[in-house]
Amino acid sequence: MAYIVDLRSDTVTKPSKSMRHAMVNSALGDDVFGEDPTVNTLESKIATLLGKQAALFVPSGTMANLIAVMVHCKKRGSEAIVGNKSHIYKYEQGGASHIAGVLLSTIQNKPDGTFDLKELESRIRGSDLHEPITSMVAIENTHNVCGGKVLPLEWLDKISALCQKHSIPLHMDGARLMNASEALKETPARLVKGCDSISVCFSKGLAAPVGSALVGAYHFIEQARRMRKMLGGGMRQAGVLAAAAVVALDETVPRLAFDHKRAQILAKTMQGLFLKSFSVDVEGVHTNIVMLKIADSSPLTADLVLKRLGQVALDETQGDCKTTNDEGVIVKAVGFDSKTIRFCLHVDISDEDLWLAIMKMTYVFKELDAAHPVAKS
Ligand SMILES: Cc1ncc(COP(=O)(O)O)c(C=O)c1O
Repeated sequence: MAYIVDLRSDTVTKPSKSMRHAMVNSALGDDVFGEDPTVNTLESKIATLLGKQAALFVPSGTMANLIAVMVHCKKRGSEAIVGNKSHIYKYEQGGASHIAGVLLSTIQNKPDGTFDLKELESRIRGSDLHEPITSMVAIENTHNVCGGKVLPLEWLDKISALCQKHSIPLHMDGARLMNASEALKETPARLVKGCDSISVCFSKGLAAPVGSALVGAYHFIEQARRMRKMLGGGMRQAGVLAAAAVVALDETVPRLAFDHKRAQILAKTMQGLFLKSFSVDVEGVHTNIVMLKIADSSPLTADLVLKRLGQVALDETQGDCKTTNDEGVIVKAVGFDSKTIRFCLHVDISDEDLWLAIMKMTYVFKELDAAHPVAKS
């Protein structure tokens, strides 16, 4: 038996005791009739937190983003401009095209998760009948593929001014908005001030088992409610789920700083090993995500490194790389591409887990670095 430190995602968390208690004890009703008091509490709580008029509880971040696309892009032949590394573009099966009939046009994300605003402006279509109608721009904060980076406030203000100038709605995929707010020490309302709609996930760093909210103006949420029903996302006594999300806002949000601190410790320790095969951009670790880069000139791949982190070699446990019960340690993470591995900190990772992960990663990275030297240039 080995002890597992699961750093694959902040979605792997289990509901806390207080979440489970709230799930069992909260008042319930039929939410499709608008009669679930716990869902109503959650919706008004998250709307207020984001400084918007209304919110809608939905099963997932993917559905929240899809509904935003469907409401903003009403006409056939509409186009939504999104980053080429955005979740909407890369990981939602092209639902915007598949289900909503919307063209997703990509603009290149810079390493910090932003994109060039001059290029964005040049990409907004006029009234040429050959072209689709630009009906929405979407941004992501924090930016997952860019390593949990927080979009700079100044850039947020600029992109919102640009979208307003062209009367194009701005949507924020804020699956990890609360992490961004914690990192910048700014209120979530400030971060989304210039956005027309925002999706927020309760089931990522906030550690609730299920659910997201779509947030915006009354008339937007009214239309979103219709779309949710059409997509099969109208849930009945959904308060059992919303109850955990309410607890997440009260209890998990105030402790996100711990995840960020642990991410910093992990990043600095890995970078401090000074191995030729591996590097971490410590400055680029803004929140709970650490991206490990494998040198291009190394024969190692993400798959190989992940496989080794998932095994316990005999001699590992003869040293320090073990729990107090003498169990070997396995670290789980995800490969983003053949040379990049993502490690994600979350509420279920204790200081002891972090320590064990560091011991294991140090052991494995040193071993792999020695066994598979980078090619000399
Ligand atoms: C940035 C971002 N947006 C949206 C989603 C989709 O959320 P869900 O898995 O709830 O559909 C994710 C999921 O990891 C995400 O990281």
